[in-house]
Formats: sequence, structure tokens, C-alpha cells
Amino acid sequence: MTDVTRKDFDEVMVPCYNPMAVIPVRGEGARIWDQQDKEYVDFAGGIAVSCLGHCHPVMVEALTKQANQLWHLSNVMTNEPALRLAKKLVELSFADKVFFANSGAEANEAALKLARRYAVDEFGEHKSKIIAFNKGFHGRTFFTVTVGGQSAYSDGFGPKPGDVEHIPYNDIQAFEAAISDETCAVMMEPLQGEGGIIAPTSEFVQTVRELCDKHNALLIFDEVQTGNGRTGDFYAYQGLGVTPDILSTAKSLGGGFPVGAMLTTEKLAKHLKVGTHGSTYGGNPLACAVAEAVVGHVSQPDVLQGVKEREGLFRAELERINAKYPIFAEFRGKGLLLGAELNDDWKGRSRDILVAAGEEGLMVLIAGADVVRFTPSLVITPEEIKQGFERFEAAVAKLYNA
Ligand SMILES: Cc1ncc(COP(=O)(O)O)c(C=O)c1O
Repeated sequence: MTDVTRKDFDEVMVPCYNPMAVIPVRGEGARIWDQQDKEYVDFAGGIAVSCLGHCHPVMVEALTKQANQLWHLSNVMTNEPALRLAKKLVELSFADKVFFANSGAEANEAALKLARRYAVDEFGEHKSKIIAFNKGFHGRTFFTVTVGGQSAYSDGFGPKPGDVEHIPYNDIQAFEAAISDETCAVMMEPLQGEGGIIAPTSEFVQTVRELCDKHNALLIFDEVQTGNGRTGDFYAYQGLGVTPDILSTAKSLGGGFPVGAMLTTEKLAKHLKVGTHGSTYGGNPLACAVAEAVVGHVSQPDVLQGVKEREGLFRAELERINAKYPIFAEFRGKGLLLGAELNDDWKGRSRDILVAAGEEGLMVLIAGADVVRFTPSLVITPEEIKQGFERFEAAVAKLYNA
């Protein structure tokens, strides 16, 4: 007997979510079980979070060890897991300095505040413009949601933070027209996730970097969804050959434990002097101990190589199913951040597929009404992939033949 049900959600929770009918209660690897003990293969990974699957021994060990040692201090003191994790992130990236937060939005908030502070300190108040992209997603704080490219998420809350301009992604001409010496920063995802799994062209991303340099504007890469091995490189920028000035990371960083970080250079970091920014929980020892274990595991070359191999398995299965039941127009994305775009006959029906998959015992995600999204564990086994796609095929067949 369980004493809480989905009905309780409607009674006691703020209705800003509409969760599925099932309530999962435990997980192991790329599988979860609900209250009725129904098993699901998990191709969603909590929206690109559970990079080592559920309850991976490396994470459980790090968490339980730290839980018996020290939970919290505040930033009046530093702590060993935070220092070790920061050193590891510096070692694995372009960055010299790290600021810890608790989520992607907070990491982005820190990135935007740093960019504005640097511009004010070095150039003056007038250099305040932030360029961002249509369909981009950067979180739900008021600053980050305003920089995000879907006004539906930021409208209706009164006056917004100012000087934010949105232009189409991958549009070099629009970018050239938008950037100027007044530009403080450009914020972009190096592969748009929520917006529909859209990769930047190499020419676009090179131009963005060049023009940022020309106009002394900072380039902020939001790697909240792409970071920590998701694309097969530890950070997606490493696969693009373009290095940002500031990078935000969260989601997979803690593998399911809330933690985020902003990474930057020494030159920029010094502008966040004592008292300019902060967080009670940022750099919490439990979060950092788990993240240290996750990063240590995911950054191993064989794990990153494994992501590329698994991408191949996912694409092959999707092609196979689409040959039988042609509902998709295109497969795109990189590593294990993949999107299957529905063809014209099936446009608008991604949620139907998510629901049908759930009925068959498979968790998938969507990225808008036309794209089915897959962000599984980076160490999902070939057997779990095969079984997941058997269920996906059954779901697609049911809809196709209906
Ligand atoms: C690219 C990107 N940035 C930021 C966020 C926000 O992260 P959080 O929900 O942890 O605040 C997300 C979440 O989906 C994201 O995909």
C-alpha cells in the first residue's frame, strides 16, 4: 500500500507542472519502477541529468561516504569536495576559476551577472546589451528566462530585465547586424536542447566567436544540457573548436544531485570580488562529493568513446523503426542528446509518442511538439538500448496502425 498518489499532486502542489500519471519509486541503471512495480526503460534520464543511470555505485558510494562526514558549512568556510571538484573542472576545460551554484538557471544567472559586471568595470554602463537566440533555453529565474528565446515563458511577470535582444540561431547576417560595441555578451547553447535539438553550423559558431572578439563582447556557452560528456566530448565546445569566455554546467554534473557551476577565466573571475555574488548552498559538500565522483567517471576516455558508440546504436534503431513505420523526417543531435523530428503527417504529435512509449514501459522526452528527444544514461547498456527500442517500436506501431 502506498499512501500518496498522483491525485495528491493536484491537491497540494503548485500547478506549474503536469506530471505523468505514474510515480516512479526506485531506479537502477537505465531502468525505473513505479508504485505498481511496473518497469520502464529510461531513455530520458531525468532530462539529461542521470548521466550514470540511477543509483550508480560510484555515486552512491560518494554520497554515503560524504553523508557520514560533513553535510554543510556555508561559504564562510570552504570544503574539500568543492575544492577537489573545482580543480577537476579546471583541469578538464579552458577555465581557471569556478563558481558553484545549485542549478542550471543559477549557473547562468552567475554567468550573466559576471558578464555585466565585467562590462561595467572595464567599459562603462553603456555596454549592457545581451544577444541571445530564438528558441534558446537558459532557465527560469527572471534574468535567465528573459534571455531564453521563448517569450511565452517570460511574458506575464511584469517588467523584464532590459537590454536583451533575440535573433534566429544559425543566422550569420542577423548576428552581424545585431552585434556592436554596446554588446556585453552573447549567450548560446552549443546545441539547442529544449528548442528542438538544433546544432550550430561551424561557420556560425566561428563567426560568433570572431565578432565577440572584435567587439569585446563575452561569449557565454550554456552547457547545462550538453556538458559532462553528453555529446561525446566532455564539453560540447571541445567538439566545436570554439572556446567560450564563460561556461555554465549543471544537470549531468551531479548525475541526479542538484549542483551547477559557472566556469571562467582568471581575467574575468576577478571582477566578482568578495560580496558581489553568492549562494548559501553553492559548493555544498554533499553535492560536490557526488559531482566529483560523476565527473571522475564520465571524463574517462572510454566512457566518452562509449557515448559515440551508443549514438550509433540509437541512430541505427531509429532508422530501422522508421523504415517500417515512416513517421520521422530527420534524426539529429550529437552523442546522447538526440532528436527525432516528426514528418509532415505526424507534426504536432510528439506528446502522443511520449505517452504511447510510457504505456509500453519506456520513458522518452519531447523537445517541442514535433521532436521526440532521447537523453539517456551515458553508460546505458546495449541490452537496455535494444529492449528500449523494442518498446519504442511497439508504441510507434500502435499509433501507426491506429
Ligand atoms: C540549456 C539549458 N540551460 C539551463 C537550463 C535550466 O537548468 P535548471 O532547470 O537546472 O535551472 C536547462 C534546463 O533544461 C537547459 O536545458
